Amino acid sequence: MTSKTRIPIQLQINGRQHELEVEPRVTLLDALRDHLGLTGTKKGCDHGQCGACTVHVDGERVLACLTLAVQAEGRAVTSIEGLAQEDGTLHAVQAAFLEQDAFQCGYCTPGQIMSAVACIREGHAGSDDEIREYMAGNLCRCGAYPHIVAAVRQAAAEVAS
Ligand code: FES
Ligand code: FES
Repeated sequence: MTSKTRIPIQLQINGRQHELEVEPRVTLLDALRDHLGLTGTKKGCDHGQCGACTVHVDGERVLACLTLAVQAEGRAVTSIEGLAQEDGTLHAVQAAFLEQDAFQCGYCTPGQIMSAVACIREGHAGSDDEIREYMAGNLCRCGAYPHIVAAVRQAAAEVAS
């Protein structure tokens, strides 16, 4: 097999099945952005250090830049594009980020939101310290951290109520 060999794979993204041909080394991040046009998931470092590429695979948060597309075959992938409801109603975390002004440039925001959804689901949003600890893998160059913590706190309270 040469480095240019492409293989057919099927990916289930946001509830839809996609068929594509990729080189075996293609990451899930590049498959989403370059092959499927789902550019909401951001490429920051491409080395597992910033969290901008966070998506969910079978409900667990993963770094799409460190996940091969072939590894996601047969699993349910959710990207930021799949978070809102079909009618456009925002997910509680998306709405909280807007209400709390939890972004400046917005580049880290999709990853922050995907991490926050998982953080709340995991039961790791019980206090600001816990939120900071379990959101630590998502960096924000703009330093919007206090607002991000406030948004996660708000969304966690709404989900619990
Ligand atoms: S782009 Fe994946 S962790 Fe930075
Ligand atoms: S809002 Fe700019 S990097 Fe986080």
